[in-house]
Amino acid sequence: MCGIVGYVGDRPVVDILLDGLEQLEYRGYDSSGIALKCADDIKVYKAEGKLINLRNTLKSHVSEVSSSTMGIGHIRWATHGAPTLLNAHPHTCNCGNLVLVHNGIIENYKELREKLTAQGCVFRSQTDTEAVAHLVASKYAKTKDLTEAVRLATQEIEGAYALCVMHNDYKNTLVVTKRNAPLLVGIGEGEFYVASDVPAIIKHTKKAMYLNDNQIATITPEKLVLIDKDGNELPQKIEVLPWEPVALSKMGYKHFMLKEIHEQPDVVRNILVGKLHAPDEPIVLNEVKLNKETLKNLNRIQIIACGTSLHAAMVGKYLIENFCGIAVDVEASSEYIYRKTVTDAHTLVIGVSQSGETADTLTAIKQAKAKGSHILIITNRPDSAMAREADSLVPVNAGIEVSVAATKSYTAQLMAFYLLALYMAEIKESVDVPTMTSLKAEMMLLPQKIDQILSNTDEVQKCARAYANTKDFIYVARGINFPTALEGALKLKEISYINATGYPAGELKHGPIAMLDETMPVLSILMNGSVYEKLLSNSEEAKARNARMIALTNSNDEKLNDLFEHIIRVPDVQELFSPVIAMVPLQLLAYYIAEFLGKDVDQPRNLAKSVTVE
Ligand code: AGP
Repeated sequence: MCGIVGYVGDRPVVDILLDGLEQLEYRGYDSSGIALKCADDIKVYKAEGKLINLRNTLKSHVSEVSSSTMGIGHIRWATHGAPTLLNAHPHTCNCGNLVLVHNGIIENYKELREKLTAQGCVFRSQTDTEAVAHLVASKYAKTKDLTEAVRLATQEIEGAYALCVMHNDYKNTLVVTKRNAPLLVGIGEGEFYVASDVPAIIKHTKKAMYLNDNQIATITPEKLVLIDKDGNELPQKIEVLPWEPVALSKMGYKHFMLKEIHEQPDVVRNILVGKLHAPDEPIVLNEVKLNKETLKNLNRIQIIACGTSLHAAMVGKYLIENFCGIAVDVEASSEYIYRKTVTDAHTLVIGVSQSGETADTLTAIKQAKAKGSHILIITNRPDSAMAREADSLVPVNAGIEVSVAATKSYTAQLMAFYLLALYMAEIKESVDVPTMTSLKAEMMLLPQKIDQILSNTDEVQKCARAYANTKDFIYVARGINFPTALEGALKLKEISYINATGYPAGELKHGPIAMLDETMPVLSILMNGSVYEKLLSNSEEAKARNARMIALTNSNDEKLNDLFEHIIRVPDVQELFSPVIAMVPLQLLAYYIAEFLGKDVDQPRNLAKSVTVE
């Protein structure tokens, strides 16, 4: 998704903006630009492709811009219009005095464009954003007050936006506002920073204020004034950001993804801290407001998510139904929001989102909330829009996840579901105490089992080299590891661009088996448990069609050596916890294949870390 930065203060602004945009690259983009307030005018510089191209463009303008101390910047993930220079932000009005950057989608931009064209505005780009630039300029022509112009303009806008606006009449004022897209203001000494996300400002300040929807902030080096959509001044909620700049360094790893995979033992330890002290103690979820009464009145649970979070949700279904005996439906957010759902005050709706800003999931949650459901959010960003909608919250505390491919946040989401399912089972008394104690004891052993996997990745790397040039890949599993097959295939797809598919193994013979031959690797997630023998049979069926077989397993069954070309072994673990263990080698396999192929592992083409458009 797009990224916005802004600065007003007394320091040279160019590098502050460029470094801030660099920290937002993980959001995904295909062009960039900055606008700088100079003595007599606002200068705009843009470039297609990566930020290095913008830096190179600026090299020949250093003398013109080195004294500027106010500016805005943007990295664009193309929605309306190709990733060209003309469509890159910032966008301006026709005279060039009003300049802004935008993240989100203006749903009524066509109507605005028609109206503004009729008023004489000349559009140069294909973007929805340019309509906002002309609209704010048209209001400013009447109000001669930038804040009021933004306030009036946003009343005519439908859709999602985070805006950072400047005007040539103001030598040191930024106006920012947002609706259904993230925006925060970093507070320095005599200077302010604007950003779409924490990484862009964390090295300058840990004091910040998150804007809420429809709030407008007018920022000068001396002060910030916050108003609501009606112009009434509001109190400011200043927070201390819980992250350290070190979270934004690779700490010696070649890619953020590999670093974040290796952080998973500590991520699991962290999420247990304060929630599970010992196997014979109750689970503590302080921000979950569910009790015997609310659970008794529940007639169903709906879990809504996208992408990797949807796969975590699918594991959550197995766990909640197994431990609590409550029916659970899992649905992609993008499907949920466009159908007549049976959601009501007796439904617990669980939203799962690493970023807490995914537009489809946020929209779905708001729809469910409007129907009276209890909203429980599982997220890595307790500072997000989704967290602010929550009646109950389970923060996964995985730390900032920079790589576009979700890894540690997925494992953290799984842990959140184990804790939540057992927490609800304790309330319902639906699991006997000895079993509960054993499950908690097993959960506390997971970090060291993940450590064990990470301590020797030779077999995974050998496997990666053997299959790096395959064009297709099938991952199969059964039961609670069917979501593991889907997530393992998604990891490979999204960073290596190989056509990997996850299937329930029992489905192979209903069609996909027709694809099998010596060019098709089949990876079986063959974990000890209730479906082991069935999956072994499915693997033999695949082998009989000459597929190249790989096993990911904790079985010591000798006959696997004849059936599988490669065997990736993992520590033994109770079946219900096997998704946590099985996922780690699949993340590594995807990583090493993509790295072997020389792909842009942390920022795969076309992808964004947080999809804030529907
Ligand atoms: C996963 O590797 C992808 N980055 C993507 O599928 C992601 O999980 C999805 O966009 C949902 O994001 P969220 O968890 O922030 O809502």
